[in-house]
Amino acid sequence: MDYAYKSPVSQKTLILLCISLFLMQELFAVSLPSPAVVETIEFNKGFVPLFGDGNILHSDDDKSVSLQLNQYTGSGFKSCDLYNHGFFSAKIKLPSNYTAGIVVAFYTTNGDVFEKTHDELDFEFLGNIKGKAWKFQTNLYGNGSTSRGREERYTLWFDPSREFHRYSILWTSDKILFYIDDVPIREIIHNEAMGGDYPSKPMSLYATIWDASDWATSGGKYKVNYKYAPFVAEFTDLTLHGCSVDPLEEFTTPSCNEKNVTSHFADVTPEQRMAMNKFRQRYMYYSYCYDTLRYPVALPECVIDPLLREQLKDTGRLKFGGKHRSHSQRRSKTARGRRYGN
Ligand SMILES: *[C@@H]1O[C@H](CO)[C@@H](O)[C@H](O)[C@H]1NC(C)=O
Ligand SMILES: *[C@@H]1O[C@H](CO)[C@@H](O)[C@H](O)[C@H]1NC(C)=O
Ligand SMILES: *[C@@H]1O[C@H](CO)[C@@H](O)[C@H](O)[C@H]1NC(C)=O
Repeated sequence: MDYAYKSPVSQKTLILLCISLFLMQELFAVSLPSPAVVETIEFNKGFVPLFGDGNILHSDDDKSVSLQLNQYTGSGFKSCDLYNHGFFSAKIKLPSNYTAGIVVAFYTTNGDVFEKTHDELDFEFLGNIKGKAWKFQTNLYGNGSTSRGREERYTLWFDPSREFHRYSILWTSDKILFYIDDVPIREIIHNEAMGGDYPSKPMSLYATIWDASDWATSGGKYKVNYKYAPFVAEFTDLTLHGCSVDPLEEFTTPSCNEKNVTSHFADVTPEQRMAMNKFRQRYMYYSYCYDTLRYPVALPECVIDPLLREQLKDTGRLKFGGKHRSHSQRRSKTARGRRYGN
């Protein structure tokens, strides 16, 4: 098929696309030490369904699992164990086509155990209108700090529905790192002034897909359209690399040394740091650290980059602050699905 012939405009679009793809490839062409050199776990060995059991499909070898959302329910799974620090990772392929209003979340939390004082680290992919760049956010809560969201929002340098990419969360007592493939995209250094806001209690790994029509895509402007259902998010190469904790006793296996388990993923090379800075300069479009309307005094862990401050100073267009629904409202709205803070 000759697309250029059918639509002369697309030729120009293609060239622009190629240039931007070239720039993106160049951006992350540095050879980075892979965080992916870690054992993966079969679904049944490490996870249990969370909700929408009928919408969770396993591959024959149990190394991959897909979560579906249809007009009846979304679905989700969680790790059987809680971990006191660790490296949590999966290769994920997001639903394609029209996915407005859909949220796919990949996160660690202990909300089931500590309802009022939970800790949480999130990747959240916020549905997409075909042809538009995918958006996603990362966030953290500690000891129930739901009134202090720490969201950052970004676009991606690739289409996450076309192939699998690895998304990873590293959590140590010193720092938190979010990775996409081998690129660290966000680093939070544990600052004492954060107090309980820094996640400190054992967490499980979760993945969910659910209908967030009321807020996910352009602040709720675009809803889920079930004409395109089912929406399928695929997960493979699941990694639970941490110090597991007895869920009843809540003590860590004494032989597990946090540093030994996580150090490989905690060391950011100069090349990775460069890639992280480039990613943040080009793809981050919101950060709570620069939202002076919401936080006139930046939260203690914020390290202000003058370049980013220049780019993100126009906080007016961002729909944060003032419109937060309460935690309990969100929880009831999504039933057993994922409650969420913007
Ligand atoms: C996307 O939508 C088109 C047209 O509705 C359909 O033919 C195609 O199979 C869909 N792709 C996926 C992966 O669902
Ligand atoms: C967590 O919150 C609880 C209840 O508000 C409080 O008693 C406790 O001291 C907090 N823990 C930390 C580490 O801040
Ligand atoms: C941690 O790793 C070091 C070096 O590999 C090893 O000597 C030490 O025994 C390990 N500690 C634990 C608790 O596994």
